[in-house]
Parts: sequence; C-alpha cells; structure tokens
Amino acid sequence: MVAAVAVSIGHAALTGSASPRAATGPPRASATLGVVAKRLLVVHHTPSPALHTLLEAVLDGAREAGAEVVARAALTCTAVDALEADGYVLGTPANLGMMSGALKHFFDGAYYPCLDATVGRPWGLYVHGNDDVAGAIGQVEKIVTGLRWQQVHDHVRVLGTPDAAARDAAWDLGATVAARMED
Ligand SMILES: Cc1cc2nc3c(=O)[nH]c(=O)nc-3n(C[C@H](O)[C@H](O)[C@H](O)COP(=O)(O)O)c2cc1C
Repeated sequence: MVAAVAVSIGHAALTGSASPRAATGPPRASATLGVVAKRLLVVHHTPSPALHTLLEAVLDGAREAGAEVVARAALTCTAVDALEADGYVLGTPANLGMMSGALKHFFDGAYYPCLDATVGRPWGLYVHGNDDVAGAIGQVEKIVTGLRWQQVHDHVRVLGTPDAAARDAAWDLGATVAARMED
C-alpha cells in the first residue's frame, strides 16, 4: 500500500509570524540567572516506530525553542504532571476511529484536577493513522474544549510512514507550542 501523508500548515506560516525554527536562541535565561524555563509536557502514546519518529521530532523542536521538556507516556502521565506544566503537546494513534485508550486514560485522571487550573495554556496535537484520523481528533478537541486550553498550531495529521514533511510539521508543532508558553 502506498503511504499517504497529510500534514497541516504550521501556525507561524498561517499567522505570518517568524517561525520558531528561525529563532535566534532560547527565549529564557538560564537557571544561573534565577529564571526558570517554562515546562512543556508531551503526553504521548507511542506503540510503533512511526509514532516514535513523530515524538522525537516534537521533542527536538520544543527543546530548540528553549523549553524544559517533559515527555510522559500517556498511561503513566498524572494530573500533577499536567498541573506542573505550562503547555501541552498530545500525541496519539487513531485506533478504531478513536484516540488511543492510553490518551483517554490520561484525560480520565487529569480532567477535573486541571479544569479551571490550566485555562488558557497553549496546546497542540499530532495523530498518526493508516487511513482516517478525524474521529480521534474530534474526541481530543471535545475534551480540550472543556479544559479551555488555547490551540496554537494546526493539528499534525500523518497517514502511513512519516516522511520529511511530516517530521518537519511535528518539529514545528513542538517548537510552536514551546514558544507560546506565557510568563
Ligand atoms: C486495532 C487498531 C485499530 C486501528 N484503527 C485505525 C483507525 O481507525 N484509523 C486509522 O487511521 N488507523 C487505525 N489504525 C492504525 C493505527 O493508527 C496505526 O497502527 C498506528 O498509528 C501505528 O502506526 P503503524 O502501525 O504504521 O506503525 C488502527 C490500528 C489498530 C491496531
């Protein structure tokens, strides 16, 4: 089967703002100056090489933007992890038309503790599938709408083996969410 890849356009491209990739350096001072970097939490379910490729790209982009990056497998990620973060990237396969049970498990535990406490924080999403990721995206959007997080990047949708464009989109997702975390 020929793998198809659909990749959305980065936020920076949509807004005309400078891409995080072009940033001149980390946005925050080092710990030696007493300034703590903002923390990006990447909550992911990564059961295959394709998803691992996307995760690595997201992490690379976020780190290059100067954020402290915490990656947590969705099955082990807690409400405390979410409360302690300043922004979120969520990653999941599409399974049976839905988000992974692992990511749903994260939301089951974190939703009410985070409700009201995390309003307005930036977030982004990548979803990998073989043919149709719309159902998974709709489910995640519904939950995050309740949390009132701020979407700062188009969802990254990847079908089949991630190619260079897909990896770039995932990198941009991580960099953009990391760069949009407010003081
Ligand atoms: C039980 C099961 C259900 C799946 N359902 C969907 C689906 O509804 N839509 C889709 O695009 N892919 C679906 N897939 C494919 C997975 O999204 C895919 O296996 C996963 O993203 C990992 O990618 P890889 O198998 O190419 O490494 C399903 C896979 C499994 C095992």
